[in-house]
Amino acid sequence: MFKNLWYNTGMKFRFSDFFSDVTNFVKGGRVLGVDIGTSSIKLVELSRRADRFRLLNYGILETKDYLEHPNLALQGDSLKLDEKKTSELLRLLVRQTGVKSTTALVSIPSYSSFVTVLDMPLLSLGETEKAVLFQARQFIPLEPSEVTLDWSKVDETVNERGQRFQKILLIGIPNEIVEVYKRTLKVAGLRTVALELESIALARALLHADPRPTMIVDIGGIATNVVVVEGGVMKYSGQTNHAGLYLTRALEESLGVSMSRAEELKKRSGLLGKGSELELSTLLLSFLDVIIEEAQRLKSIFEERYSKKVQKLILTGGGANLQGVEKYMGEQIGFPISPSQVFLDIEYDPRLGAIERGLGNELAVAVGVARRYFM
Ligand SMILES: Nc1ncnc2c1ncn2[C@@H]1O[C@H](COP(=O)(O)OP(=O)(O)OP(=O)(O)O)[C@@H](O)[C@H]1O
Ligand SMILES: [Mg+2]
Repeated sequence: MFKNLWYNTGMKFRFSDFFSDVTNFVKGGRVLGVDIGTSSIKLVELSRRADRFRLLNYGILETKDYLEHPNLALQGDSLKLDEKKTSELLRLLVRQTGVKSTTALVSIPSYSSFVTVLDMPLLSLGETEKAVLFQARQFIPLEPSEVTLDWSKVDETVNERGQRFQKILLIGIPNEIVEVYKRTLKVAGLRTVALELESIALARALLHADPRPTMIVDIGGIATNVVVVEGGVMKYSGQTNHAGLYLTRALEESLGVSMSRAEELKKRSGLLGKGSELELSTLLLSFLDVIIEEAQRLKSIFEERYSKKVQKLILTGGGANLQGVEKYMGEQIGFPISPSQVFLDIEYDPRLGAIERGLGNELAVAVGVARRYFM
């Protein structure tokens, strides 16, 4: 669906049609989806036969270090992946889960990429391309040779005077990020066949065939990501830097406990604490309000720009496991949160045991990126 636009004609790696070299593969095989977050690495092994997906294996490797030493996160505030550490952990995860495939698709976090919506008159394809190139320079603070762009028309409107306009969704991924991810996977023994923005992977994992404007709120470790998708097309993506780690840190400071203890308390009581933990839940509510306000703000930006309302909201990411968050957030935003159904059309191998509640929230990106292989 996306058109590729090349600043750098020598570039070999592509986002959209990268599968051109593997189209002859029988896609009945198995493939890995890899999601490298700030606090953990997630891995799924997926296969597809006819219309049926099967989760063959999965693993989550959490790195607790980042709680006490945020600069030890896999991707620190500098947003640069710690290649050596990440590839070691990924190799460990591959070994421990015993996944059989070495073919992998990997997601790129929103905070490592540039996504923006451009408004412009409806032009010919060639003119649009020129205009996109020109505007990209204003939005992306990198030299053209340092970034790969992808763009696509996502909306068309006519004003009262009959003038036609279009909206273009522009994605820019720094070439260095692409190289870092490919190297990291290679050192871990994996062959990367595609990289994809995590927002797009999430939409694939969670939306199924629902065409309504749907907002996905992904509460991760350091960032909350908001993506709006309509009719299978990503229309908007924004993020805030308040997420799970912010909640833990707020508890640490308010209660005067260690980060590990604050993390434990957060996960145990969430918003539903009773008795001695009621105070904790009340505190958490007030901090969660910050995340909800930011999500509301991003929702309004989408609604204003597209002159339409979000009709459905799905919560995901580890932060969506906070006890009581769906009910509270639904009340604040004004309509119920829809269930996140990552495993709706995916069977699991019985040897994996039951997929616990909440795992879908953590694995959504990895599942979404793996599914892309079979599209
Ligand atoms: N039961 C729970 N209750 C509250 N928070 C939880 C629970 N389980 C996980 N979390 C929080 O989810 C966050 C991690 O979420 P996730 O695994 O989606 O992050 P990530 O992908 O590593 O981070 P990012 O996407 O920001 O890079 C952590 O802050 C963790 O405390
Ligand atoms: Mg994440």
